[in-house]
Amino acid sequence: MELHPESVVVAAGRPHEPGGPLNTPIVLTAPYRHLPDDNPYARHDVSPTVRAFEDALGALEGGTALAFASGIAAAAAVIDRLPAGAAVVVPDAAYSGTVSAFAAQQELGRLTVRPVDSADTAAVLAALDGAALLWLESVSNPLMAVPDLPALIAAAHAAGAQVAVDSTFSTPLVLRPLDLGADVVMHSATKYLAGHSDVIMGALVVRDQALAAELHDGRTRTGAVPGMLEAYLATRGIRTLALRMERAQANAATLAARLAEHPHVARVRYPGLATDPGHAVAARDHRGFGAMIGIETAGTAEQAERVCECVRLITHATSLGGVESLIERRARHDIDAAFGTPPTLLRFSVGIEHVEDLWADLSQALDAAFSG
Ligand SMILES: Cc1ncc(COP(=O)(O)O)c(C=O)c1O
Repeated sequence: MELHPESVVVAAGRPHEPGGPLNTPIVLTAPYRHLPDDNPYARHDVSPTVRAFEDALGALEGGTALAFASGIAAAAAVIDRLPAGAAVVVPDAAYSGTVSAFAAQQELGRLTVRPVDSADTAAVLAALDGAALLWLESVSNPLMAVPDLPALIAAAHAAGAQVAVDSTFSTPLVLRPLDLGADVVMHSATKYLAGHSDVIMGALVVRDQALAAELHDGRTRTGAVPGMLEAYLATRGIRTLALRMERAQANAATLAARLAEHPHVARVRYPGLATDPGHAVAARDHRGFGAMIGIETAGTAEQAERVCECVRLITHATSLGGVESLIERRARHDIDAAFGTPPTLLRFSVGIEHVEDLWADLSQALDAAFSG
């Protein structure tokens, strides 16, 4: 029976033994007892708690999932398998940890990084010649650019490059990059998948079984496996992913429209707005517009920072994708400032609170930041 994603999040990755538990328990063991021809150990792939998460995410993305200790550990596993001297095409503005992971490889002389504006399809195409990998974010962090995945993936493959898509902002409910031809999907499971801001974890999903085996070997070699508690919590988070995304996206759509009219807001970056540069591509390829909003406030960086200090229900903190709304001025991070993040850009992760409470909080914080 073909299930809808709303049912897959609930049903996938469960044990089915008669008389057994409904949920895969937290199995706390490092070694398992020897088998005649195997030496099971939890740094390999034997943990049932981790496998439950992988089964659920794999079913959602339509591939084979591998869990990692963090989103960045998952990204590092993709970077790690590139041959020395390879060229990689990478967004010039992306999650700061990813940007610095690629930059560190370039500094070591291992990779040549070709930075591109991922929303500029012609610029990406021009950079692909001889590249081994094209790295993209489904919606870029924090500038909210939406790359044209079908066009870029086709061109990358024609040029002999593999394509990895960090789909953290989108979740498999909004986008399935493997269906569009991507070779690797990456997630910071810390965010929407786990969903409660209490876990650090990551994942890769692939269709090619040789690639899955290679990434699996790499994970065993580097030891970047998640802990059992984290894997359990992330699986439990997935159970409510559809409901959480539904509410968070509805909240985001309402707030983005209101913010766009607000006198203290200069620009709203949200692909759900018909005026947003990413709207056409997102409307074509995504099933929803996500729950991240970039708010460029009208005045100075100090006033933008004041907005974050004045929120009461919304929390002034980094990260995203939890049930609770979070906001921060991204240019406070040196890497984001260096790649040109506008000094007044607030990255707003919209949670599942009541939309009118969120609006009241944002409105009072904007008024307080701009008064006097
Ligand atoms: C888009 C994106 N990718 C990757 C990461 C890294 O994930 P983690 O913090 O789980 O290592 C983050 C974290 O903020 C992110 O926002």
